[in-house]
Amino acid sequence: MRTELLTILRETDGYVSGQALCEKFGVSRTAVWKGIRQLRESGYVIEAVQNKGYRLISSPDILSENELMSIRKTEWAGQEIRCFPVVDSTNTKAQQLAEDGYPDGTLVVAEQQDAGKGRRGRSWESPRGSGIFMTLLLKPQLSPNNASMLTLVAALATASAVTEQTGRPAGIKWPNDIVMNGKKICGILTEMSAQTDYINHVVIGIGINVHNDSFPDEISCMATSLFLETGKHFNRAALIEAVLERFEHYYAVFRKTEDLSALVHEYDACLVNAHQKVRVLDPKEPFEGKAMGITPRGELIVDTWESRRLVSAGEVSVRGVYGYV
Ligand code: BTN
Repeated sequence: MRTELLTILRETDGYVSGQALCEKFGVSRTAVWKGIRQLRESGYVIEAVQNKGYRLISSPDILSENELMSIRKTEWAGQEIRCFPVVDSTNTKAQQLAEDGYPDGTLVVAEQQDAGKGRRGRSWESPRGSGIFMTLLLKPQLSPNNASMLTLVAALATASAVTEQTGRPAGIKWPNDIVMNGKKICGILTEMSAQTDYINHVVIGIGINVHNDSFPDEISCMATSLFLETGKHFNRAALIEAVLERFEHYYAVFRKTEDLSALVHEYDACLVNAHQKVRVLDPKEPFEGKAMGITPRGELIVDTWESRRLVSAGEVSVRGVYGYV
């Protein structure tokens, strides 16, 4: 009942009478009062006025299934939501849930990760309450060869959601780091379990630095948070919902052609490397050139002085010649 109670309080402009809630849920006034009390204990500020009813004044910045479900507007993303105070990694948890039969669109969220995973075997700092640690489980009927493009779809969705929620432009450092003012605010790790021609599942893990007020010295030159960049604390549940909404939209576009052809233009508009000199850290042969945008398959187009080269994500990493971007 708490999810529905929250949804009604949120959707009502003004007070909802206790009687209306009793009728809606078919329960006693005491049961409604108990629901209100539990929400208050979780940090919701709910005003109760005699002869008028209840009114939601403010919501806490908590990541609970009730909170996320009560604001959910998506069709399939987040149709099942599992929230945890602590996990090793939301990606690992989502993979376990996939094997336990959880459906396409399941969302896993944690307040803290003890073994958060980054790309290339690195770890992802995930202190309690500092940010968003979320993983979306997909069970797509796609060729495994096309799955790597999903990470760029997620990057586009996240950059667009962050821009919309914060009012500050968030860009993409190819292929899938989200940056604000030249520093990284979000990383995305996509992992897949597949047969030769069949995907069992894909998990898309998104880590957004939201409230952090500092970073360890080793990464402070390239990492930042929404708080450090804007001086504001953003509601994490609203941000997660925005990412899911944007992801549903871009994923539907991607599914039509199973590539990024209809998204290249929008992706390139977010690309902070566009028309910048980049160094491609290819272990066989590093090279420099000018990044021009992406191909419909998500490769980075790099013009060197002698030729045009296409760089595939996963094989190499790309750095700005003058710094991280
Ligand atoms: C990167 O190295 O840039 C990718 C970082 C991805 C971090 C997120 S946090 C949620 C999800 N769970 C993980 O263990 N990693 C991803």
